[in-house]
Amino acid sequence: MLKSTLIRAAEAGAAVMQKYFQGEFKISNKEGVNNLVTEADHASEKAIFEIIKNDFPDHFILSEEAGEIVMDSSYKWIIDPIDGTVNFAHGIPLCCVSIGVEQDGEMILGAVYNPFIKEFFFAQKGYGATLNDKKIAVSKEASVGSACLVTGFPYSYLDQPNGPLNVFDRLIRKGVPVRRLGSAAMDLCWVAAGRFDGFYEHKLSAWDSAAGFLIVEEAGGRVSDFTGGRYSPYQPHIIATNGKIHDELVEVVNGRHPGF
Ligand code: IPD
Ligand code: CA
Ligand code: CA
Repeated sequence: MLKSTLIRAAEAGAAVMQKYFQGEFKISNKEGVNNLVTEADHASEKAIFEIIKNDFPDHFILSEEAGEIVMDSSYKWIIDPIDGTVNFAHGIPLCCVSIGVEQDGEMILGAVYNPFIKEFFFAQKGYGATLNDKKIAVSKEASVGSACLVTGFPYSYLDQPNGPLNVFDRLIRKGVPVRRLGSAAMDLCWVAAGRFDGFYEHKLSAWDSAAGFLIVEEAGGRVSDFTGGRYSPYQPHIIATNGKIHDELVEVVNGRHPGF
C-alpha cells in the first residue's frame, strides 16, 4: 500500500506540472533573490497531499511549500512538489516531483518523477533502484580527474573558502566537466543511473534529497555529508557518488586534495 500510494502521489503531482507547463501561471518570489514559487508548486503539493491524506491520514508530512503537518506517527512523507522550479518557470523540462518516505527516521522509499522526459526513478530500502521499472546502477569511474560531475548553487550564496564557487573553480580549472541541471533530485537520480559519477552541493533542504539519496544508495552508490560521514537529509551538505570516487571527491570539496 505504501508503495502504491507513493507512486500515485508522484504521478498526481507530475500531472499537475504537465497541466501548467509552458502555460500561463502566477510566479512569486520567496525569501532571497530569484527564489521562485509558482501556482503549479502549490497545486502539485495539493494533489500529492490529497492522495497521501486519503490513504494515510495519520502520517507525518514535511513539504517544501506547506511546511510540516505534525502527526504522532512513525511514518514521515518528505515532499518537493516541484524540484527545479526555476527550470519549470522558464519552460525547461528539467524538473520533477520528489517524494521520500521515512519510517522511524530511516528512508525506506523514494520516488522522483520527471513527466517531461518520462523518467520515473524509484527505490525501496534493500531492494535496489529502478528507472521506469528497470534496475539501474552507478558508474564505474574510479578517479575524479576523469569523472563527469554535477552540482548546484544555493540561492543565497556566501563567498567562503571551500564554498560553492571555490570548489567549482578548482574542478573546472583542471578540466573536470561539472554540469548544473538545476534540480538536485534529478542530479541524484542521474548519479544513480550512471550518467554522472558524482554530485555535491553546499546547501540542500530535506525535500531536495530525501528520495534521491536513497535512490543513489540503492543503485550501489555512496552518499555522505562533507566529512564523508553518514548522510542525513536534515543537514545542508551532500556528496553523492558511485562510491569509487567518493573519498577523493570529499578531499576536493574540503580543499585538501593536492591535485586540485
Ligand atoms: C532547488 C533545486 C536546485 C538546488 C537548490 C534547490 P527548488 O530546489 O534542487 O538544483 O540547487 O538548492 O533549492 O527550489 O527548485 O525546489
Ligand atoms: Ca527542491
Ligand atoms: Ca521545490
